Amino acid sequence: MSRPQDEPRSRKPMRSAEWFAREGKYGFIPRSWMRSQGFGPELFDGRPVIGICNTWSELTPCNQHLRHLAEFVKRGVLLAGGYPLEFPVMSLGEPLMRPTTMMFRNLVSMDVEETIRANPIDGVVLLAGCDKTTPALLMGAASCDIPAILVSGGPMLNGRFRGRELGSGTDVFRFDEDYRTGHLTREEYAEAEAAMSRSAGSCMTMGTASTMASLSEAMGIALPMNGSIPAVDSRRQHLAEQAGRHIVSLVHNGTTISRILTRAAFDNAIVVNGAIGGSTNAVVHLLALAGRLGVPLSLDDWDRLGAGVPCLVDLKPSGRFLMEDFYYAGGLSALMKRMEDRLDLTAPTVEGAALGKRIERAECFDDAVIRPRDNPVSEQGGMVVLRGNLAPEGAVLKPSAASPALMRHRGKALVFENADDYRARIEDPELDVDETTVLILKNAGPVGYPGMPEVGNLALPSKLLARGVTDMVRISDGRMSGTAYGTVVLHISPEAAVGGPLALVRTGDEIVLDVPSRRLEMNVSEAELNRRRAELVLPEPHFERGYGRMFINSVQQAHQGADFDFLVGATRIQPSKVSF
Ligand code: FES
Repeated sequence: MSRPQDEPRSRKPMRSAEWFAREGKYGFIPRSWMRSQGFGPELFDGRPVIGICNTWSELTPCNQHLRHLAEFVKRGVLLAGGYPLEFPVMSLGEPLMRPTTMMFRNLVSMDVEETIRANPIDGVVLLAGCDKTTPALLMGAASCDIPAILVSGGPMLNGRFRGRELGSGTDVFRFDEDYRTGHLTREEYAEAEAAMSRSAGSCMTMGTASTMASLSEAMGIALPMNGSIPAVDSRRQHLAEQAGRHIVSLVHNGTTISRILTRAAFDNAIVVNGAIGGSTNAVVHLLALAGRLGVPLSLDDWDRLGAGVPCLVDLKPSGRFLMEDFYYAGGLSALMKRMEDRLDLTAPTVEGAALGKRIERAECFDDAVIRPRDNPVSEQGGMVVLRGNLAPEGAVLKPSAASPALMRHRGKALVFENADDYRARIEDPELDVDETTVLILKNAGPVGYPGMPEVGNLALPSKLLARGVTDMVRISDGRMSGTAYGTVVLHISPEAAVGGPLALVRTGDEIVLDVPSRRLEMNVSEAELNRRRAELVLPEPHFERGYGRMFINSVQQAHQGADFDFLVGATRIQPSKVSF
């Protein structure tokens, strides 16, 4: 990892000087109250003030260690001649929050944006980990267009249970099936709970947290190895210290986040997402982030740039290994070295050098974990974007997690009107379902649930599991966990709750999935669809007041990144207004 030169004190006035360098009572007040925390006069002498934006919370187990990691960022900031000030923002813990953390991603981004705007902060280090914390923090910083570096908490240690390795999330789904079919006792199930999550850190599969940490690295907004160093490895603390040094350089150089997160960065991220077998959730998060920066990015870019990208990283849920193994094999730099002909190596990074320089000497130390180009985990790692009369604005499918035999499939729809309907009926012994049936879930989109929860990988009925069925085509306007797998069509847009065609599907309709030709259709005549449309009654909104009401009134559809309509667009940190 490169070491930044400690910068000489900048002559350029800092934004923080608008608070701390003022004469009279308007300078006295901020200085005096900050002195109450024991801070010395160095805070006010014109050096960069670096915010450390922390998502630590005991309600977010994956981020439990971020208070400690912040201390290493502070050390780096101080070594480079800056002054660190840590501040909390709302945290999003995937395992606990209801109805879904996705409902709060945009809220956290507003918390980040407005906290930065309202305070004397010249640059920011973003401490994130659990799934939505990463896009939320990046989106908030992007809306301020301030110098920023992301530091991820890192993946937890590999899980181990009775001689086998366990992957977060991915093996939960397997255990659940084993338990429901009697292949796992209640005692073994409880033992597995403790064995799976045995350290601080985010899910150690290539789920959404690892994907977003890796893509941040690929986009140059995080340092090399940010995605893969285990949470409890001392090298992550050193990375945090280095981030503290680099952010001071970025402030002195005036390198704001929009100068790192360019179109080239997003293009690289899409290619890397295919090569790592990354989460489908990255699609909505990157679309939303690009929207904040005014970078033109569409759903079709995912298909176009991802086409022919092989999945090389053999990690669960697409493969066999876990994030610890990925780090020891050389991490993302080694992976990008293998994909360098598909990347824009001129893309900038927070170290100041171009991406090509970063990966110049990267090596792979384990070809089983990071496969060579001629032996991929899957030939098609990139996301597939499907369209048709079921999804006029698009839907996504992750081929590396799907069954090749189901890539072309016709089957009768079995429709569930919402998640409650699914839970109530899926185990009904009389349910008319077999392995050719297409399971359809409505009203799981941004407005419908609300918040577009990770319910799209509907569990199969136990009676089919018992017969050895392991996958079926499943379709919804929701998302799925990055740790999940299966032939699952997600993010149908527009969603059922706003009157999208998904709302018109009925049990028994023939559904056609044709991945090679990117088609998703229901074989129902236009006249019949019009008749159903005329009869359609949309569900009542879930909220009449508060944040929930703001969410359903302002959230955009999945193909637009599910951001709030009033947050989209390039912006800049504005001169502070002095209110007294
Ligand atoms: Fe936090 Fe998976 S539950 S990263």
